[in-house]
Amino acid sequence: MTFGDYQIELYLGALGGNLPQHPFTYAELEADALAALPPELRTYVAGGSGTESTQRGNATAFDRWALVPRMLRASAERDLSVELFGTTVPSPLMMAPVGVLGLVTPDQHGDVHGAEVSAATGVPFIGSTLMSDPLEDVAAARGDAPLWFQLYTPKNRELAASLVSRAEKAGYDAIVVTLDTWVPGWRPRDLASGNFPQLRGKALANYTSDPVFAEMTGPDPDLGTTVMTWVGTFGNPLSWDDLAWLRSLTDLPLVLKGICHPDDARRALDEGVDGIYVSNHGGRQANGGGAAIDWLPRVVEAVRSHPDRGEAPVVFDSGVRSGADVVKALALGASTVAIGRPYVYGLALGGVAGATHVLRSLQAETDLIMAVDGYPHRADLTPDALVRVP
Ligand code: GLV
Repeated sequence: MTFGDYQIELYLGALGGNLPQHPFTYAELEADALAALPPELRTYVAGGSGTESTQRGNATAFDRWALVPRMLRASAERDLSVELFGTTVPSPLMMAPVGVLGLVTPDQHGDVHGAEVSAATGVPFIGSTLMSDPLEDVAAARGDAPLWFQLYTPKNRELAASLVSRAEKAGYDAIVVTLDTWVPGWRPRDLASGNFPQLRGKALANYTSDPVFAEMTGPDPDLGTTVMTWVGTFGNPLSWDDLAWLRSLTDLPLVLKGICHPDDARRALDEGVDGIYVSNHGGRQANGGGAAIDWLPRVVEAVRSHPDRGEAPVVFDSGVRSGADVVKALALGASTVAIGRPYVYGLALGGVAGATHVLRSLQAETDLIMAVDGYPHRADLTPDALVRVP
């Protein structure tokens, strides 16, 4: 079995009269999912910051790279596996943390379903701090793949410690600290619709289930108290001086998300961080910051030349819409590629089966490009496989 065999399954299914239930292109996926989502979620999920030129550029920047086809290197077997902190994962994909994931399925258990999708596909899931179910319930639905917890570091340090220690106890395998969202970015679509789900008390289950947060609100808080307590503690403007404290919270691998500059990557590794996550938050946080893929090569170079931590995984997200994009991000040095909106749309459209279809399609296209173009092993994908095109 290869990932590409998904196409055989689809063609055979069609011969038996079963046409595919869900779309194959990102444009159709987005259009269908947005039609299925309630209006208040459409702007939040689809939108980004400012004119959204960074969000668009994240996706279009991949078109400036081309994979050069090489022949007579064909191999019936491909190896797309990647090692993440001692665990071998069959494909170089992850599910990026998404704060409103819980809300995108009608039953409001989208975070649990994210873990179920991981169990169905073997794609590691990164659960967000902003869940609609407590992180323990989400962990209970996991499969064998790694499960990471994304931390929005609250201002209250005891609350931060509590969230991390709950994630440890629940069996999460790494902590991802998001650095670019201590304050929400300027998001015209959400501003125009007056829409910020957390301010309506949504996606706060990890707070409302937390003993430290309960001390902060007092007993039986009403919705207003919960929301205002959350607003008061949500975003901690972290600096390098806070890193030793963050590091001290856990022995789990610590990954910093939002790193785009090689100096930041080097310093993070110097200070004991285990993994680097290159991302501009899918263009949701700051417009005008360029396409995330353009920052990847220099960060990879900084990580790989680090004297002690040169093997640290480099996760990449922002703008990945197809298997071709995955291949290019791998060739530019990503250890693994996290998918955001595409799997969220799949989940919104067709629940676990919909998101599974999206991830299996990305795995299949990645695998088939590697097969057709003569790069059968992950190690064959290096910057030399790409040329820059106008
Ligand atoms: C939060 O993570 C957001 O992107 O809105």
